[in-house]
Amino acid sequence: QNICKIAILGMGTVGGGVYKILEKQKDNLIYKIGGGLEIAKVLVRNKAKYMDTVAPEMLTDQWSDIINDDDIKIIVEVMGGLEPAGKYIKEALQKGKHVVTANKDLIAIHGHQLLELAKSNNCDLLFEAAVAGGIPIIRPLKQCLAGNEITEVMGIINGTTNFILTKMSEEGMDFADALRLATDLGYAEADPTADIEGYDAGRKLAILASIAFHTPVTFHDVYTEGISKITAKDIRYAHELGCEIKLLGIAKNKEDGIEVKVHPTMISAKHPLASVKDSFNAVFVHGDAVDDAMFYGRGAGEFPTGSAVVGDIIDVARNMQFCCSGRIGCSCYKTIPIKNVRE
Ligand code: NAP
Ligand code: HSE
Repeated sequence: QNICKIAILGMGTVGGGVYKILEKQKDNLIYKIGGGLEIAKVLVRNKAKYMDTVAPEMLTDQWSDIINDDDIKIIVEVMGGLEPAGKYIKEALQKGKHVVTANKDLIAIHGHQLLELAKSNNCDLLFEAAVAGGIPIIRPLKQCLAGNEITEVMGIINGTTNFILTKMSEEGMDFADALRLATDLGYAEADPTADIEGYDAGRKLAILASIAFHTPVTFHDVYTEGISKITAKDIRYAHELGCEIKLLGIAKNKEDGIEVKVHPTMISAKHPLASVKDSFNAVFVHGDAVDDAMFYGRGAGEFPTGSAVVGDIIDVARNMQFCCSGRIGCSCYKTIPIKNVRE
């Protein structure tokens, strides 16, 4: 049996989700990729912290244990931050290792150079989890909607702020208490300033706009305004007007150029985005052929984000020609009895 060895960099909220999903899916992976996946190494800073959750022989605090192991073919970067994550990803690609990452900070600034590097080394660099957690949006924009001229991408793309605004609107919760709860639930970034000031949504919007409009857009191009100044009084006024306040990311491809902005917006309580609550995200896309399409789901947290990361890992393993790339009828398909529901 073919075995694909992977290394996971980081074992926090997302890394933990990836680890648990891969453990749970172990027996199914053979049907999905035509081979096995083995977690060979897990990189963390403080090994002692993870002794109870990760097999101790997998744990390392040395990048050299991973980059110098030629049997490790896929690097899963879920540690976050620009450095050393950026250096590790570059070195991995230069050595011909495929990379899956959830790191929007890095992709929103250096994504274009990293994708060039991946291409010149014949490697995959996938980052579905970097935008909107568990919602498939990168691949649909890149592939399924490629036949469109996309003119607008708009939506709620930060789970923490949507959670805070929902708690303030529906339960009258205080901003600080709601933020604390979002942090405890694993939605917020290590430094939640990125969430509440709109930088996290700005990074995601830059990634979405780049793919949708097929041109480099970086985080520095995005106007950002967060929700830290929104008070209970603002929410009350919005309610009096039959509205909700939502933090929206809006990217438009206009005749005179691209507009990318993130800011709190008053929307009618009847608007579909008003019913997007808690840590859920929703992204609207307008294309000339498809018209309007909407993507909705959980935008943060260990399992939704882990779901997107594991999807990318499986995609890379399939591309390594273990099997059929998901072709219906391939010999790797399972045989599950089909019930007769006609009687
Ligand atoms: P986290 O809970 O803070 O976990 C970070 C992990 O990385 C920890 O295990 C930490 O190990 C390890 N780490 C950090 N710096 C390291 C270094 N220099 N060397 C070795 N290990 C290091 O973070 P997270 O929430 O899982 O987020 C990870 C990434 O996913 C970020 O890029 C984030 O933006 C992205 N993301 C998160 C979510 C979400 O819902 N949380 C959703 C989508 C994308 P120690 O504990 O030993 O320091
Ligand atoms: N902190 C981010 C959020 C995590 O709240 O949306 C998911 O990217």
